[in-house]
Amino acid sequence: MIVSIIASPRRDGFGTMLAHAIGESAEAAGAEVREYRLNDMRSYRQCQNCSACKENGGTCVLKDDISPIIDDIRDADGIVFSTSINFNDMDGLFKMVLDRLYCFLDANATTIMPKGKKIAIVVTAGADDAGANRVATDLEKVMTQHFFCESVGRIAYCTWMMPAGMPIDDDVLGRAREIGRMLA
Ligand SMILES: Cc1cc2nc3c(=O)[nH]c(=O)nc-3n(C[C@H](O)[C@H](O)[C@H](O)COP(=O)(O)O)c2cc1C
Repeated sequence: MIVSIIASPRRDGFGTMLAHAIGESAEAAGAEVREYRLNDMRSYRQCQNCSACKENGGTCVLKDDISPIIDDIRDADGIVFSTSINFNDMDGLFKMVLDRLYCFLDANATTIMPKGKKIAIVVTAGADDAGANRVATDLEKVMTQHFFCESVGRIAYCTWMMPAGMPIDDDVLGRAREIGRMLA
């Protein structure tokens, strides 16, 4: 099973289209994809740094709309991360979800997330191509160095502030489909 986490509030935005291209390709290769659109969440709290998860075997004691995402990530074979760049950094809700993965680190900061999950990363930017690559690199580092995931590919996509719904270059869509096949 693959969890697809989409941060952009734009339902037909570029980050959504690229995450869908990855997911559809993974589905065509036999995978089940569960999509979470962070903008649909209504109840969410940041990691409280309460360390309850360090005492209880890795269960976050917060119960909100982020809880099913964490549960599915625990069981997932792969994860698609799709975020835009907002003021030089990842989307705020996206960062909140990422921080909640702290429950997968034990008291010694060793991961208790099952190792070897495959990840794919999409970062969109209005203009800051370098920023999109930096955020993709930072996210990849968190997931590979803390949680021992295996990155199968990443796309940093500069939209040049085009409106949502505009087509994406075929070669980029092709890359997304290739990543989806590797994820499955
Ligand atoms: C609050 C906010 C801040 C933004 N800051 C940046 C920025 O610092 N650099 C940049 O290149 N684009 C910035 N953008 C543009 C978005 O990155 C761009 O519209 C988005 O990547 C489009 O992706 P989507 O189609 O998936 O929504 C910002 C957009 C918003 C709403």
